[in-house]
Amino acid sequence: MATSGTRTTEEVFADLFGGVVQDPFPLYDELRETGDGVHYSSLLQSHFVTRYADVRRIATDFRTFSSDLFDVTPAGMHDAGDAEHRRFAEIAGRLFMFADPPVHTRIRSTFRAAFTPEAVERWRPAVLDATTALLDEFEPGTEVDLMPRLAADVPVAVIASILGVPREAWGHFRTWSFAYASTFDPMVQGARRDEAIRTSLALFDFLADLAAQRRARPAGDLISTIVHTRTDDGDVLGEVELIAQLALLLVAGNETTTNLIGNGSTLLLDNPGARAEITADPALLPDAIEEMLRIDPPLHLTIRLLTKDATVGGQRLPAGSLVSPCIAAANRDPRVFPDAGRFDLHRGENGKHLAFLHGIHFCVGAALARLEGQVVFEEMLRRHPGFHAGTEPAVRRTLNSVSRGWEKRPVVL
Ligand code: HEM
Repeated sequence: MATSGTRTTEEVFADLFGGVVQDPFPLYDELRETGDGVHYSSLLQSHFVTRYADVRRIATDFRTFSSDLFDVTPAGMHDAGDAEHRRFAEIAGRLFMFADPPVHTRIRSTFRAAFTPEAVERWRPAVLDATTALLDEFEPGTEVDLMPRLAADVPVAVIASILGVPREAWGHFRTWSFAYASTFDPMVQGARRDEAIRTSLALFDFLADLAAQRRARPAGDLISTIVHTRTDDGDVLGEVELIAQLALLLVAGNETTTNLIGNGSTLLLDNPGARAEITADPALLPDAIEEMLRIDPPLHLTIRLLTKDATVGGQRLPAGSLVSPCIAAANRDPRVFPDAGRFDLHRGENGKHLAFLHGIHFCVGAALARLEGQVVFEEMLRRHPGFHAGTEPAVRRTLNSVSRGWEKRPVVL
């Protein structure tokens, strides 16, 4: 189909997924406002869904739109003839994010109590420690790139600390976590994929050892809680299931929270009026974070598999089709958010955005991610209220169409 310009939607997708554009939002607008906002992409081999009502409905109707699709993710497309690949897929394939009820409900029930907003507050000191340790390195008046020096490190340090990973293992843990996350990146192929899988297996072994230690001697950390928590069915997670979920906490929480910090810093730089308001009244920070998550969400795309024929937008799609709900396009749908491209602290629509999705797969770590955002921005604005764009250009990461953020975000403190 042709868009409102003269290009076909496939040409728009080629730009969007080909690493060509820095700013994908005008293309999302174009796709959302063309036809019924649902377009097949031969690159994704999936129907790209852009309107808020359609994305929310797909997330709600988990019986029609299944998450049981690990095998079609890059991490799931392994070499069955290779023993390491097989072992990797056997563990990683148990992620409850890629499961439907009843398996999903049973595993997710072990996380419920540990991740409520009230429970997450107990981790505030750990988040503050991780943040201050990094910010203490920043000299006022110097230029720093926030991405490697702050945004990438806070989430790993926080999750390592709350899981109970001993501090001397944090360096390895960071490397292992990034390697595991990279197995979900379609660009990581061949020898790089073999290496990422081997490193992920080291992470799985490390988590298995730690879990065994905490089973024998609980230590008050998150692993101790999870190994002893009973599921809704009254059992505890099996060994492989457990390792898969612990590793999931890393991949699901690291790059996303990194992007929240990078994207949010950029929005503060680009919106000096809003930033002055927040600096004067830090009580506005929770609203600011919701608006950051709406307007520039860390995770742009997700995926579902149709279990039966269904209508999406105005189109009848057969069972077995893939759909790719685009959170970032939905979050700027003008049918729901007036003047959707404007960063507005007083929108009063908190919780309506889909950055953490909706329904049974709503992000388990949402309260923790919000807490990390609050602590990081509060500390940053308190210590460096005048931070401004650096002399080096900021660069968006363009080759990942699923999670979009900054490669470089230099600032002068
Ligand atoms: C700003 C940061 C974050 C964003 C934007 C985000 C976004 C999301 C989204 C959109 C989903 C749903 C995916 C789908 O079903 O297709 C999700 C699921 C999930 N997230 Fe997050 N996430 C963030 C941080 C975290 C953190 C810090 C953790 C844990 C430490 C975490 C753990 C999870 C888990 C375990 C799931 C699977 C839930 C399920 O399938 O029931 N996330 N997240």
